[in-house]
Amino acid sequence: MLRLTNVSKVFGGITAVDNCSFEVGRSSITALIGPNGAGKSTIFQLITGVEALDKGVIELDGMSIVHLPVHKRAKRGISRTFQATRVFKNLTLRESFYLAVRNGDDGLGRMWETEHSEHRFEETLAEVGLEKTLHALGDELSYGQKKLFALAMAFLFPHTLLMLDEPVAGVNPVLREQIIHILLRRRAHTGDTVFIIEHDIEFIRNLADKVIVMDAGEVIAEGEPRDVLNDPRVIKSYLGEQV
Ligand SMILES: Nc1ncnc2c1ncn2[C@@H]1O[C@H](COP(=O)(O)OP(=O)(O)OP(=O)(O)O)[C@@H](O)[C@H]1O
Ligand SMILES: [Mg+2]
Repeated sequence: MLRLTNVSKVFGGITAVDNCSFEVGRSSITALIGPNGAGKSTIFQLITGVEALDKGVIELDGMSIVHLPVHKRAKRGISRTFQATRVFKNLTLRESFYLAVRNGDDGLGRMWETEHSEHRFEETLAEVGLEKTLHALGDELSYGQKKLFALAMAFLFPHTLLMLDEPVAGVNPVLREQIIHILLRRRAHTGDTVFIIEHDIEFIRNLADKVIVMDAGEVIAEGEPRDVLNDPRVIKSYLGEQV
């Protein structure tokens, strides 16, 4: 459903993304991994249109989206979370939700549909296990709860492609397992395509159908987790040593 062909992006003198090509299949859970600075989050910025690419093509459902602004790409069915999780400190979760709906966009210029009722909001909070925090202030959430809230908001935005930038970074192993179940259950129910950046190899092993590995802006491996995660080049790029 998503295809990148020869995509490049240079920031000043740094080639963040270097001629990358890969596909994310419909209803797959595809993981994008690689060392810090490999260019993973930049790939997300290029797909969502937050950054403009220098070269290449990005297609969603067979049509190029590179000429579209951020909100039009979102309307085509892309919902995402960011690597740095931010919530409104002095608003309750319910107020944050209504602010997003009433403002008509989610801060990225993406329009919310009016179909987002309170009921769906509560249902989605329950889906991620946050049903008791409807009236909690953003500031009162733990780090892990903030990650779950960001996930719930991404679920709520109408989409077919869900892009998650490090959804379990810094969360404890129990919550990590919960998030695996939440995502697997969701994919089974909705058929969502999930494209996920993550450093946690166990998480990827238990969740992903396909893994794409980047290093220094390039795709260095892709395939099924059991093959890719045992590939000596991948181990070397992660551990920085000969194997
Ligand atoms: N807006 C920007 N301006 C300048 N340089 C940038 C910008 N965004 C990213 N870069 C650079 O591009 C390279 C890739 O960054 P990116 O954030 O995509 O890496 P990443 O793979 O997501 O890393 P991490 O695992 O640490 O999140 C880095 O060298 C980074 O400093
Ligand atoms: Mg990143």
